[in-house]
Amino acid sequence: MAKVLILLKTAKMSFLDQIDTIKLPQHIAIIMDGNGRWAKQKGKLRVFGHQNGVKAVREALEGCVKANIKFLTLYAFSAENWNRPKLEVMALMELLVTSLKKEIKTFQENGVRLNVIGDITKLPSNAQRKLQETIEATKENTHCTLTLALSYSSRQEIVDAARNLAQQVKDGKLHADEINDELFAANLYTQNLPDPDLLIRTSGELRISNFLLWQIAYSELCFLDKMWPEFTKEDLFKSIVDYQQRERRFGKTSEQL
Ligand code: IPE
Ligand code: IPE
Ligand code: MG
Repeated sequence: MAKVLILLKTAKMSFLDQIDTIKLPQHIAIIMDGNGRWAKQKGKLRVFGHQNGVKAVREALEGCVKANIKFLTLYAFSAENWNRPKLEVMALMELLVTSLKKEIKTFQENGVRLNVIGDITKLPSNAQRKLQETIEATKENTHCTLTLALSYSSRQEIVDAARNLAQQVKDGKLHADEINDELFAANLYTQNLPDPDLLIRTSGELRISNFLLWQIAYSELCFLDKMWPEFTKEDLFKSIVDYQQRERRFGKTSEQL
């Protein structure tokens, strides 16, 4: 009996129960950082950290499904990450392919639709193929949209949008003075996604590293000291609770809200 009570008590302590379901963030974005340092602390190679990072991806995704978060965007590989040692880059690309193969089941069971942002033409062809296959196989899923940022640079995304708009002006399809916030956003890779309400970065680093610069204009930022492989559903739930305690004023005063 006592054991049952203790179990009930521990189960009750989940931050999931503290989440206000009316004030849910619609979109959570995560900079998954600290794989290499986590592995190093354990005396292992950086790749070991990346392998363990996949578990944390599952935690984040299942956490979002449980908490009814509609959009999750994960920074998995930046355009700048191509400059890492060749072996590490190759291992990351391999890991992407094997993880997609394995996680398709998780996606289907949880109603997760896969989406990608970034210059994926730079990815090895087997990775591109697996991504396209998984996107196609999950396109009818509606519970949560998982966007992977791969070979992604926010500055490049903004440059691409500017080029696109400039071309339309040049072709006489658009007047320069018609370009506004909304039209600009519609030309970004994230055109079908709402802006993130909450941005989480693990590993204690306090920077954005070229991620969603336009889209996070009014996002709430949450920096965690934990390294990415240690990230759990509870960390996600706690971050949501933390987010819900903030006052998002969007330039207004408290009294106006
Ligand atoms: C994040 O962990 C994963 C990628 C950037 C691909 P890191 O590999 O950046 O790990 P640290 O920051 O060096 O510890
Ligand atoms: C940002 O992490 C990119 C990803 C998480 C994929 P980095 O580890 O590459 O960022 P910096 O170099 O520390 O800013
Ligand atoms: Mg890092």
